Amino acid sequence: MSAVYEEENKKLVEKTKRSEEIYKESVEVTPFGVHSNYRAMDPYPIYFTKGKGSKLWDADGNEYIDFHMAFGVLVSGHSHPVLVEAMKDRIANGTILGFEFEDSYKLAKIVCERFGVDMVKFSTTGGESTNYAVRFARAYTERKKILKFEGCYHGFPDSFLVNVKPTVAKAGHPRFPNQVPASKGILEEAVKQTLIAPFNDLEAVETIMKKHGNEVAAIILEPIPMNMGYILPRPGFLEGLRKIADEYNSVLIFDEVKTSGKFYRGAAGYFKVKPDLVTMAKAVAGGYPLSLVAGKKDIMNAVVPGAVSHAGTFNSNSLVITAGIVTLSKILTEKAMNEATKLSRMLAKGYEDIINDAKIHALVKWAGTSGTVHFTKAKKIENWRDFLTTDVARWFLYTVIMLNRGIVPSALGPDEQWTISVQHTKEDIAKHLEIFKEIAGHVRKLDIEMPIVEAI
Ligand SMILES: Cc1ncc(COP(=O)(O)O)c(C=O)c1O
Repeated sequence: MSAVYEEENKKLVEKTKRSEEIYKESVEVTPFGVHSNYRAMDPYPIYFTKGKGSKLWDADGNEYIDFHMAFGVLVSGHSHPVLVEAMKDRIANGTILGFEFEDSYKLAKIVCERFGVDMVKFSTTGGESTNYAVRFARAYTERKKILKFEGCYHGFPDSFLVNVKPTVAKAGHPRFPNQVPASKGILEEAVKQTLIAPFNDLEAVETIMKKHGNEVAAIILEPIPMNMGYILPRPGFLEGLRKIADEYNSVLIFDEVKTSGKFYRGAAGYFKVKPDLVTMAKAVAGGYPLSLVAGKKDIMNAVVPGAVSHAGTFNSNSLVITAGIVTLSKILTEKAMNEATKLSRMLAKGYEDIINDAKIHALVKWAGTSGTVHFTKAKKIENWRDFLTTDVARWFLYTVIMLNRGIVPSALGPDEQWTISVQHTKEDIAKHLEIFKEIAGHVRKLDIEMPIVEAI
């Protein structure tokens, strides 16, 4: 076991004593002391108190420059002052009204214009929106199956918890994987209806669709998979899926829960490929829980009350709608997103230079406001099987050392990415790179094996 690794882990424990105390209280009433399994940490999670701009403070008062940004929610940054001001008034005048809010249509119009969609239905979390998109597609096509990609994550619903992070031992063939449930408690029937293809492999998709295409309601994907790091679609891949979906009359769904905050017009706008339905969440309401399904009129108009269910007490409440309007029209403007993208480029280029100089085995993948350092000896990362070459221990050491020096370098996990917000500055990026440069030697030297954890 590397001495640096042990020393840095010890340091983190020493500076997070209050988190340890909170954890002890928490585990008595909540398994693992967290309310999303993704936040569980060994030996305990660090608990946080406050966020402002690009900064975050933990329960011990340690300050960090935040590049986690709540798993990509906070492209607006923490508590953007324009949003804070608008929300004060909204909170004072009713956060949820029980009837449809008078401004919901205004946000729907903003979404339609910006993202080039016909119609919109709002909901609360990303997982709800993907679940609704698939339900709408199944209702519209009167088919049962969906095709999803190995390594893509679409939230909590059973249909999507298949081949999220499977081991090779369970998933088998890289081009025609077995269907592997990602959690206990999922109905076998749901798993059976979810066909699995490798990302970036059009031929494999064609083969699967030749066999099952007439039963496939929807092909669903993250246009840039961002739950196995940062994987760019090969040129022609998205266009190819568009053609295949058309050929079999399947609904093409882009899950843009993450990517809608990476580019001004989302990934569909960036790659200029139009899906039939798109889901969005995370960044679109500046830190408030808003999600949506949007897309073609004929599919959306088929969501008829009494025939196709779409419901939610908190859907389109006055708080999230106001937050969405302010965020999309005043904060995540094209200009502001371009500036954030410039900083993202600066971070990516800086990482590449340091990695080359220090001779670390790593690939930097990025576009828009996010990117990932893949610690790997592989020459390419194009799908889940490539991602399995990730050196988890090296990622872990890098993260702990960065945390100890006041940087949260990305959302936690080698499968995650950094998010640059409109409140980050050049100085924030320079500090991030300065610290990485200081520690690059330690990161290069590490020699520990750690497996990728399969469960989520
Ligand atoms: C691409 C994608 N889809 C859906 C979800 C689920 O969103 P939520 O956690 O808001 O339910 C996530 C969450 O990270 C995601 O990354």
